[in-house]
Amino acid sequence: MASPYRLTLRRPDDWHVHLRDGAMLHAVVPATARVFARAIVMPNLRPPITTVEAAVAYRDRILAAVPEGLDFTPLMTAYLTDDLAPEVLERGHRQGVITAAKLYPANATTNSAAGVTDLERIDPVLEAMERLGMPLLIHGEVTDPEVDIFDREAVFIERHLIPLRRRHPGLKVVLEHITTEQAVDYVSGSDRRLAATITPHHLHLNRNAMFAGGLRSDFYCLPVVKRETHRRALVRAATSGEPCFFLGTDSAPHPRAGKESACGCAGIFNAMHALESYAAIFEQEECLDRLEPFASEFGPRFYGLPLNEQSVTLERSEQTVPQRLDPPFSAPGDETSLEVDQAPLLFHAGETLLWRVVTSEQRQSS
Ligand code: NCD
Ligand code: ZN
Repeated sequence: MASPYRLTLRRPDDWHVHLRDGAMLHAVVPATARVFARAIVMPNLRPPITTVEAAVAYRDRILAAVPEGLDFTPLMTAYLTDDLAPEVLERGHRQGVITAAKLYPANATTNSAAGVTDLERIDPVLEAMERLGMPLLIHGEVTDPEVDIFDREAVFIERHLIPLRRRHPGLKVVLEHITTEQAVDYVSGSDRRLAATITPHHLHLNRNAMFAGGLRSDFYCLPVVKRETHRRALVRAATSGEPCFFLGTDSAPHPRAGKESACGCAGIFNAMHALESYAAIFEQEECLDRLEPFASEFGPRFYGLPLNEQSVTLERSEQTVPQRLDPPFSAPGDETSLEVDQAPLLFHAGETLLWRVVTSEQRQSS
């Protein structure tokens, strides 16, 4: 029998991930660290990461959850509030602790209550970031309740992003987890200081997924998945070979009780099969050769970081995705716990994926 087709890529990075804390952190870090060399770690903990000390401590907790033998570098972000002092970012940058800062419009999404209420208030911080060359990562949705939830990204671009980039033309900006044709067009037509991450779930799902046979909170995330025309635009962008579009999973695990609720949490946990999920899209579009630049080159180039030297190999062999993340869910000395029945559901649960990651070459420790 012929051996299965294999595809070896430069080891990728995840430019947007939620690793959480405590038992959930220990449960989910291995999935990310197995495949990705680095990840931009979101700061929306409770309380959020707003100091250099908190970023260092969180980085240490993440590193303690990386399984032995895996080489993984968490890249830390600071959570912008109305009052965060520019000095925090300056010091975090100088000490090599803070890679980027995250802008959540207040109350736009999970744990964003302490976010920014008025973008003009943070102009001094944005000026400092412009000087430092530190990227601003934006959750691009307006919070205005008058605006339809499916229009919140497009309205954010017009109302806030365009004026912000006019005020700070030298600022590097990543519009995170884009979901619309309007975002694709705006980012594609902009200069090289603007980029966007695209998630696996926004490439696979349209909004029908949330209502297939009933109300399906497992497919609810923010920004919410949109109509099929938008999904198609995202697929075209991700597979276009344009360097302004790169990989960011937005893997966002929640305990089952958080999803199975009358007011379910936003977030999809996709870290277990993220690369396979992207590969499925690139294969459907017959451009698997563009997976490597999207996953492993455009992100580091935008951030001004070196490309990874290690590799990962995908094999074209079927795998059926299990329902839930497997235990163990805690580490020695960890006081929090995650019950087995609270394990997050996996994205693509029950589906058959045509690719699987078979090896991930780790850097020799020196
Ligand atoms: C994220 C989370 O759960 O922290 N949820 C989500 O739906 N993506 C927050 C975010 O990135 O919006
Ligand atoms: Zn996110």
